[in-house]
Amino acid sequence: MRVSTLAPILSATSLASARVIGLSAPAILTPNSTFTLTLLTQPYFQPVSDIAAVWGFQTPTQANPRGAPYTLGHFTNSSYLGPTKSNTLKNVTIEAVVPAELLEGKDQLLSVAVMSTYPPYAGPWTQAWNVTVHVGPGQNNSDLMSSTEVGWDESAICYA
Ligand SMILES: *[C@@H]1O[C@H](CO)[C@@H](O)[C@H](O)[C@H]1NC(C)=O
Ligand SMILES: *[C@@H]1O[C@H](CO)[C@@H](O)[C@H](O)[C@H]1NC(C)=O
Ligand SMILES: *[C@@H]1O[C@H](CO)[C@@H](O)[C@H](O)[C@H]1NC(C)=O
Ligand SMILES: *[C@@H]1O[C@H](CO)[C@@H](O)[C@H](O)[C@H]1NC(C)=O
Ligand SMILES: *[C@@H]1O[C@H](CO)[C@@H](O)[C@H](O)[C@H]1NC(C)=O
Repeated sequence: MRVSTLAPILSATSLASARVIGLSAPAILTPNSTFTLTLLTQPYFQPVSDIAAVWGFQTPTQANPRGAPYTLGHFTNSSYLGPTKSNTLKNVTIEAVVPAELLEGKDQLLSVAVMSTYPPYAGPWTQAWNVTVHVGPGQNNSDLMSSTEVGWDESAICYA
């Protein structure tokens, strides 16, 4: 009985599976413009349900040049991901707004946290990545900052 209940779950792993492994954004962000926040993806051995992305901006300081640990900062915004933006080997793109309040001429740390659920029992997992960008005129999509180094993660995955 137990085996036949699990069978449909196991066969789902033969479908294309991918997960988010990083972040990419224009190296220059111009206040009050829109930009493409890209979630980089990679094949994964099992399907992952990405639920939502939330991002924010903070000014690097001498004490925290890579941002205050476990924070996203200010001007947070979020986007639902869901089935259409999960398990895709194409990068996931989000149209985001550069806050009009960001000071030109300064660097900002742009962080994104992605909450996903992982098999087999939908264990929630939040992972965050960040890039340092410059604020000023001249934003374009040919010069990007990317990171695949996990900034922090919080997992509640339970295999019991
Ligand atoms: C931001 O852009 C909108 C139109 O896209 C404009 O109405 C608004 O005045 C701008 N705000 C600032 C602070 O530049
Ligand atoms: C995903 O985005 C990165 C950086 O923007 C790019 O280098 C890479 O080619 C993209 N991958 C795909 C499959 O489009
Ligand atoms: C959040 O994103 C939406 C959609 O891009 C945009 O209309 C809204 O102004 C953003 N809010 C903030 C606080 O950036
Ligand atoms: C894009 O921005 C970079 C700096 O981030 C600059 O070096 C490059 O010339 C710009 N390209 C275009 C086409 O504007
Ligand atoms: C940004 O990522 C780096 C690793 O690339 C990490 O050391 C740092 O704590 C992260 N910052 C935040 C605010 O998450």
